[in-house]
Amino acid sequence: MTIRLLTLFLLSLVSLSATAAEALRASVTVRTDQSGSVIDPGIYGQFAEHLGRGIYEGVWVGENSPIPNTRGLRNDVLAALKELGVPVLRWPGGCFGDEYHWRDGIGPRNRRPTRINTTWGGVVDDNSFGTHEFMDFAELIGAEVYVNGNVGTGSTQEMAEWVEYMTADNNSTLAQLRRANGRDKPWRLHYFAVGNETWGCGGNMRPEFYADLYRQYATFIKTPRDNKPQHIASGANGSNTEWTEVLMREAAKHMDAISVHYYTLPRGAWKEKGAATRFPESEWMSTFTRTMRMDEILTNHSKIMDRYDPERRVALLVDEWGTWYDVEPGTNEGFLYQQNSLRDALVAAVNFNIFHRHAERVRMTNIAQMVNVLQAMILTDGPKMLKTPTYHAFALYKPFRGATHVPVEIATAEYRLDSESVPAVHATAARDKAGALHIALTNLDPHRAATVELRLPGQAGKALQGQILTAATTDAINTFAAPDTVRPVPFKTLKASGERLQIELPAKSLLVLSQR
Ligand code: AHR
Repeated sequence: MTIRLLTLFLLSLVSLSATAAEALRASVTVRTDQSGSVIDPGIYGQFAEHLGRGIYEGVWVGENSPIPNTRGLRNDVLAALKELGVPVLRWPGGCFGDEYHWRDGIGPRNRRPTRINTTWGGVVDDNSFGTHEFMDFAELIGAEVYVNGNVGTGSTQEMAEWVEYMTADNNSTLAQLRRANGRDKPWRLHYFAVGNETWGCGGNMRPEFYADLYRQYATFIKTPRDNKPQHIASGANGSNTEWTEVLMREAAKHMDAISVHYYTLPRGAWKEKGAATRFPESEWMSTFTRTMRMDEILTNHSKIMDRYDPERRVALLVDEWGTWYDVEPGTNEGFLYQQNSLRDALVAAVNFNIFHRHAERVRMTNIAQMVNVLQAMILTDGPKMLKTPTYHAFALYKPFRGATHVPVEIATAEYRLDSESVPAVHATAARDKAGALHIALTNLDPHRAATVELRLPGQAGKALQGQILTAATTDAINTFAAPDTVRPVPFKTLKASGERLQIELPAKSLLVLSQR
């Protein structure tokens, strides 16, 4: 019996290593004869909420902090975000936004009221980070601003006055108040949303009720002519197309965009979402099968929007997306602090590829969230800071911002596990304003390298240079002691023979190539 078991065990090892050694095959044809929509840089936007250590500690440490800072904003985080480039930043919520009263966050900091953050951990918020600090932050990192207004516990008057405070260029009492608080010129307000998740934490509304509220609130977003923000309606929860249907039917002409939120939960259940690291292979697989639902979600919402808005004037914004795991053991449940591994970087890549395909409608997305919360770009611990694998995925995709999507045709082996499977190789391509092609290739198979035949019609002789992101394990992370464990490294320069290239794409990797 023991010998039989041993033999079976050895046989299984032999077959596993054979599978591991065998490269899977894929062919990717970049349709250089076609061109899609321009990829709005806003697709690479971010979201920062008053949640856990996202703003307080993650961004704001205050002027008297021993952590080096610029007017209270930590310098290490500012530098990392400036280097990355943040096209647009959404603030202050999220669920927090529907309990946020903007007047709490202006004026001398020592006189601002302290409020309970009832949604996120019941901690107190001393309001030391308010409108001026947010706008200063956005200006320092060069981001456009996306302010989310309060419908849940606010009023049309409060919302209208906040907009006036930020944008008035005259002598109104609110403009004077802004000046007295240190800001002379109005801020440029790029986007303004009327509530958040109004179907849930923003008020548990029915779509018909919110559609009317949206129309009412949006009427009072008044600004000078040259500073008109895009008006954003709070959109659907994932696949709930009924929400989009009602909002488009009742209020499309009053909005510039409608949002949708979709998160990747490896186990698909809020109670036990799955761990950020040390997860079984089944959760690597389910993370990607669930991430890929984004494509269907966007397709279905877009179809409805097409009926009411065939000219595609109204944008669909994914203003919350990303992985959502169980919190790190020992941390506050309400702070949503989770680790960020190679898996997260590949989730980001798959989402980017999907967003590119929907670029005609999808003109902004905001990953949740920027620092220390959910799928973050940056993690901090007191004075220490690190860039996550997700940060590196965003950095690798920089050439795609503002480029024109070029469709790709992919024939790929599947990555299979038990009864589940996903296409192993994912790809996207775009042509920048200077005419250079950029191609991103992802191999989701955690065991097998992929031999990819890349076809680039009409591009013979052009060299491709790139960077690759991979790691020894699927859950490899960066730590404060070893912050560069998962980071991109140069990939060998490739030269086509004719119009074809053969690329060995390692298991569990992301490669971004650019014509030079
Ligand atoms: O990003 C965390 C939370 O997720 C947001 O506050 C809310 O809008 C969503 O449910």
